[in-house]
Amino acid sequence: MLFTLVHARPGATTPPMGFNTWNRFKCSYNETTIMQTADELVNLGLAQLGYTYVNLDDCWLLPERDPTTKRMVPDPKKFPSGMKHLADYIHSKGLKFGIYSDSGTNTCVGLPGSRGFEEIDAETWAEWTVDYLKYDNCYTPEDEPAIVRYKAMGDALKNAGRPIFFSLCSWGLENVWEWGQTIGDSWRISGDITDYFETVPNPDGNQQSVLQILETIAPIADFSGDNGFNDADMLEVGNGRMSYEEYKTHFSLWAALKSPLLIGTDLTKISERDLSILKNEHVLEVNQDRLRKSVTRKIKTAKYQVWSGPLEGGRTTILIVNVSKSKIKISLDLGLFGLCRGTLFDVWTEQTLSAIQDLEIEVHDTFMAILRCPFLQVQESDSII
Ligand code: GLA
Repeated sequence: MLFTLVHARPGATTPPMGFNTWNRFKCSYNETTIMQTADELVNLGLAQLGYTYVNLDDCWLLPERDPTTKRMVPDPKKFPSGMKHLADYIHSKGLKFGIYSDSGTNTCVGLPGSRGFEEIDAETWAEWTVDYLKYDNCYTPEDEPAIVRYKAMGDALKNAGRPIFFSLCSWGLENVWEWGQTIGDSWRISGDITDYFETVPNPDGNQQSVLQILETIAPIADFSGDNGFNDADMLEVGNGRMSYEEYKTHFSLWAALKSPLLIGTDLTKISERDLSILKNEHVLEVNQDRLRKSVTRKIKTAKYQVWSGPLEGGRTTILIVNVSKSKIKISLDLGLFGLCRGTLFDVWTEQTLSAIQDLEIEVHDTFMAILRCPFLQVQESDSII
């Protein structure tokens, strides 16, 4: 191991890492899927690297609450052994258990939401030994600010007597990055990610590509840090529509932006190549860096973008993303990016490079490196190197 990962926890010191069902399984999962995922997180060596959360998304519950207790009822066909049993299994593997609900009357697929039932639901989840809550934003009253609904659940979680990581899924509405940190631990900054890099063909309202999410996050990247994290949405690595280079870019940027890293693919079927992306320890080190400072965008041209930011120990990370449709050649001179001219460690090739040299970056690939000298702040520009 090149570094010691600090596992995220409520009031998290570093972005949470783990798995979420939605991107790959939508509503087609059950307790076997979840147990197998927990097994694979351990077997594939992902848990050891810090991927510890096993999070259910929408679709785990029945359409009606229990008429007497008013509690949410897990779907007995999907979860015949019950949620506490599932949580115990996940915890027995040294992992953590995450669940999903909604701040409106219904979840996004129309199942019961938590609005008006915050205390009952928080108590139920604490009893099931839940460690993480993703809290969505569907079926909400138009005249009620999101902060009111999210605070109601935040307070209920505090009163429930168990630390639960609180992930606000309010899609970047109402400038959630400005108030999210007073209520929760992370906040979604955009609509839903899809497995596309550039544009989403036939987008269905809320859907976003990797490049679209980068545009949304660029002006607010600085909000990720000491008091919580901008959530750029769950990972698509492994789901098959993007190229190897595009998945590298997606993963490198999400890590450097200090976003939660929640795997969204079927771990029983993942390829060695895709796994090698998720297991890059240098990239994970940047994500889990104790300084908790996001990269920000320094240069944007039609062909490439440069992002950089500080790391602990007087180091800096730099990412150069080829957003064009052909291979690019760049005469790299770190001084021109406002950075020091120390040596660079390329986190993907594991080579040490000098600060002035020629780089070739494949279509939609990212050059990502760590420099052993401090970060200097410069404003975003569109200057050409
Ligand atoms: C919303 C969220 C997604 C997912 C779905 C589930 O669209 O943004 O991440 O949780 O709901 O229905």
